[in-house]
Amino acid sequence: MPRMTVNDQPVEFDMDAETPLLWALRDAANLTGTKYGCGVGDCGACMVIVDGEALRSCLITIAEAEGRFITTIEGLSRDRSHPVQQAMVAEQAIQCGFCTPGIVMAGAALIAKNADPSKRDIEEAIPNLCRCGVYPRLVNAIQRAGRVTRRQETISAAPAPGISSEDAAAEVPAIVAPSEREE
Ligand code: FES
Ligand code: FES
Repeated sequence: MPRMTVNDQPVEFDMDAETPLLWALRDAANLTGTKYGCGVGDCGACMVIVDGEALRSCLITIAEAEGRFITTIEGLSRDRSHPVQQAMVAEQAIQCGFCTPGIVMAGAALIAKNADPSKRDIEEAIPNLCRCGVYPRLVNAIQRAGRVTRRQETISAAPAPGISSEDAAAEVPAIVAPSEREE
């Protein structure tokens, strides 16, 4: 039963060790912010941060994730205040939003290493597919997030932190055992 840390919480998955991390997160841990797009490593919708690296969770088994520190979109910030989240909103770099969690995680991993990325750095670090075509705005958003991280700018266009109670599951990492879930 592979053990790992997910969003700062110790987790032990009572699942086949070859289960992709994506399914363990979504189906066992109730962390459905990580999206299933293609399941074969092409789209990036399933990106999570593993020990500081943005990785496609559909390509990692939970055996391979054993002992590692996983951050999902639910754990990136408690109030959606991460600079990448704020900049994505401010630059309107979201259309349908399905690709967005994976893009945000790849962007957050990039900004943590390089807070002043070039367009090329961004294109290399965020290979995610977005069928709605937010790419030009995405580059603007990530560079803006970098300026916020470097304290050269603040973002006022993003909504104030604060989430309605109905949306609380998105605020707090919602690891819930299947047996405890309400049907
Ligand atoms: S679902 Fe993992 S890369 Fe598409
Ligand atoms: S915003 Fe729709 S797929 Fe990217």
